[in-house]
Amino acid sequence: MGISAKETLLSQPFWIVLPLLVGSVTVLRILFSIFQWTYAYLIRPGKNLTKYGQWVVITGPTDGIGKAMAFELARKGMNLVLVGRNPEKLFKVSCQIKAEIPSIELRTVVIDFSGDLSEGVVRLREAIKDIDVGMLINNAGLSQIIPKFFHEIDEITWANMVNVNLLAPTIVTSVVLPCMVGKGRGAIINVGSGSTVVIPSYPLFSVYAGTKGYVRYLSKSLHTEYKSNGIFFQCQVPCYVVTNITPGMKSSFFVPTASEYARSAVRSIGYESLCIPYWPHFLQYLLVRLCPAEFFLDKFVLRAALHLRSKADSRRNNKQTGVSS
Ligand SMILES: NC(=O)c1ccc[n+]([C@@H]2O[C@H](COP(=O)([O-])OP(=O)(O)OC[C@H]3O[C@@H](n4cnc5c(N)ncnc54)[C@H](OP(=O)(O)O)[C@@H]3O)[C@@H](O)[C@H]2O)c1
Repeated sequence: MGISAKETLLSQPFWIVLPLLVGSVTVLRILFSIFQWTYAYLIRPGKNLTKYGQWVVITGPTDGIGKAMAFELARKGMNLVLVGRNPEKLFKVSCQIKAEIPSIELRTVVIDFSGDLSEGVVRLREAIKDIDVGMLINNAGLSQIIPKFFHEIDEITWANMVNVNLLAPTIVTSVVLPCMVGKGRGAIINVGSGSTVVIPSYPLFSVYAGTKGYVRYLSKSLHTEYKSNGIFFQCQVPCYVVTNITPGMKSSFFVPTASEYARSAVRSIGYESLCIPYWPHFLQYLLVRLCPAEFFLDKFVLRAALHLRSKADSRRNNKQTGVSS
């Protein structure tokens, strides 16, 4: 009679069986994770977003990621409420979207998030009172153009970052959420930053990282609070994307254009409550996790920030002397 594999394994000493079992479980977990990631990034279809409602409110739609997401959402048949600070830019984007997708409806609301929001909030309430708002995208955001030590940043700059990145999404959420609670459905997408997930610290961008850390924890806590009411909160964390807040950056495998990024961002809506929508950014996250100690990463990101700072300085000097870089 043959001896089964199980009997052979169990007849081995404990110090051989235990590592074998732990090794097998680890390999299975890794394989399962690879399958999950492949499915989520390459196969899983985007959700039908109109199930949340026909309208989406989007902040910061006049440039970069927000503008690209507005186009992407319009292509999916969503009507848009565009919230921005610059009436001319809002008008221009509305015309561009209408020219490509004439069937959708559009409204615009002017709010400068760095100033007093009270009048803007009244305008927003007025603009959404008679429509079925199913989604809110808190995208408007601000960072320093030049990496700086905290004591070098003037008060206006960091106060603007706090107002636009932290206060604005909180206030706009408080305006839009009650309509969703009433209907028992909705999705609120907050644009965070890879700096709060992928790396342990973001030196020379401390206030920016701090505001985005707030966005991450606000989203997660509200998700837990409102999940049972049918309202889905998601914090999407991009790493670098070519936009105005990444001056001098060129598109590459790890750095998508705003349109490339927006396609992934819209496809991720409604799934994980914290997500890295663009798969090469997720790959970056996995690579960073291979680092054995946080200490090395902190040193690396500080050196990278100092390098960015010297590049920004030389771009500024070249501009002043008329040399192109
Ligand atoms: N690009 C990246 O690498 C990256 C990485 C991680 C996270 N993010 C986040 O992605 C989001 C979008 O940024 P982006 O990269 O697309 O930058 P962007 O091209 O500079 O676009 C920012 C948008 O926010 C609006 N905005 C800025 N200040 C405002 C204010 N005071 N009031 C109202 N609107 C204001 C801008 O309006 P105007 O057109 O009038 O300037 C613009 O529409 C931000 O939350 C940012 O933190 C970006």
